Amino acid sequence: MAHQAGLNRRAFLRNAGMTAVAGVVGGATAVRPAAAGASVQRPTNGRYDFDTPLNRIGTMSVKYDQQITKYGKDSISVGMGVADMDFRVPPAITNALAKRIEHECWGYLDMPPAFADSIVAWNKRRYNQTIDPALLQISSGVYPGLIAAMQTFCPPGSKVILQTPTYNGFYGMLDFAKVTREESPMKIVNGRYTFDFEDLERRITHETHALILCNPQNPTGNVWTEAELTRLGEICLRRRVIVLSDEIHCDFVTKGQAYVPFGNLPDKDIVRNSMTFKAASKSFGLAAHKVGWFFSDNPEFMARVRANHRADISTLGVVANHAALTEGGEWLDQLVEYLDANHDFTLDFISTKMPSIKAYKPESTYLSWIDVTEVAERIGAARLAAEANRTKAPGAADLTPEQMVERFFVREARVQLNQGASYGPGGANHMRMNLGTSRQMLEEGLTNMANAVRRL
Ligand SMILES: Cc1ncc(COP(=O)(O)O)c(C=O)c1O
Repeated sequence: MAHQAGLNRRAFLRNAGMTAVAGVVGGATAVRPAAAGASVQRPTNGRYDFDTPLNRIGTMSVKYDQQITKYGKDSISVGMGVADMDFRVPPAITNALAKRIEHECWGYLDMPPAFADSIVAWNKRRYNQTIDPALLQISSGVYPGLIAAMQTFCPPGSKVILQTPTYNGFYGMLDFAKVTREESPMKIVNGRYTFDFEDLERRITHETHALILCNPQNPTGNVWTEAELTRLGEICLRRRVIVLSDEIHCDFVTKGQAYVPFGNLPDKDIVRNSMTFKAASKSFGLAAHKVGWFFSDNPEFMARVRANHRADISTLGVVANHAALTEGGEWLDQLVEYLDANHDFTLDFISTKMPSIKAYKPESTYLSWIDVTEVAERIGAARLAAEANRTKAPGAADLTPEQMVERFFVREARVQLNQGASYGPGGANHMRMNLGTSRQMLEEGLTNMANAVRRL
């Protein structure tokens, strides 16, 4: 990878303003963190730089380092898997963190009311959503909030509905909460994923207590319309199924699309039958800081879930998230534009240079849900998976044809994508491709993939 060649890891960490963790990731002597603002990116003519590639290798990242551990040294050139981005955070975040780090003392955190205020103000400003601060709970991410809600509303062994293909992390959350999945596959109508309401109604039984809605949807990128959400909400209300709405991807709508918060639906009975789970971690690249929040218009729901929920939040998480929500709006607007152009670039690239893969422009997210049926056929993915399963270790999970496609792209293109089968029914023959990176890295990943496909 040309732009990473010759990069010395310590120099990279220094350039990336990450000298504070050099002792951990590089084994080098820990050095004092950069002074506030010392190597922080600044906008030029009011524009932030999303173009300069960022080398994340050696920073304990899932997207790069975990894949290199799995697939071997030099195996990954462009990470296009886990949903985080390869951008430096807004300068306001780095400045706020650096300032707090200078204090060099880390006693117990007294959660400042200003942080909850910043969450309320952000949602009001950007989405005209009114959150009652008394019904807002700060959490250490969407995961712990959703798990606490399922543990509250869904007895062990009962069923939670997922509309698939859907975020693969939900499966692990359900296991943790000791509940079972009830999968309602979505339909594709005129090329767009839609809920299958008839199927949903059929699947709800006395054992079903909750539905996890993904709005906007990961991996398909759908933003649900007010009509779709209302119909879904009406069915759930009537059938006594609580809607747990995960809206973590809401900041990323593509041009011409609009995100409708479930909590803004006009029917207040439908809204009171729901809880919303959010975070700024996708929007600002803060996943490792472990902060999220949830809220509901229903005081009883909130009281019950709070009784099962314990948030362990770090001071740095609060500092980073507060800076993001109070000062990061302009950076985020520019990022959303950049990612929109990444989607256009990708679509154009695929249709002209890799036409055997089918793609569409999603309505939201920095993810692309691509159909790789032809590639899977050409590499004999089903046969490879069957062979691998005959010789796999006893008790090991079955390998899927999509995992064979993932391996193919790692081996032949040094690109890691997430395999579609992990997103549930409807995920076969698909891969999820993360476009949250610089245009240069994106082009390199796509070019490597196109060359690999061409060689087949
Ligand atoms: C839909 C969805 N929900 C939740 C998460 C994870 O949330 P958190 O890191 O806040 O627990 C992700 C991460 O990819 C996601 O895509």
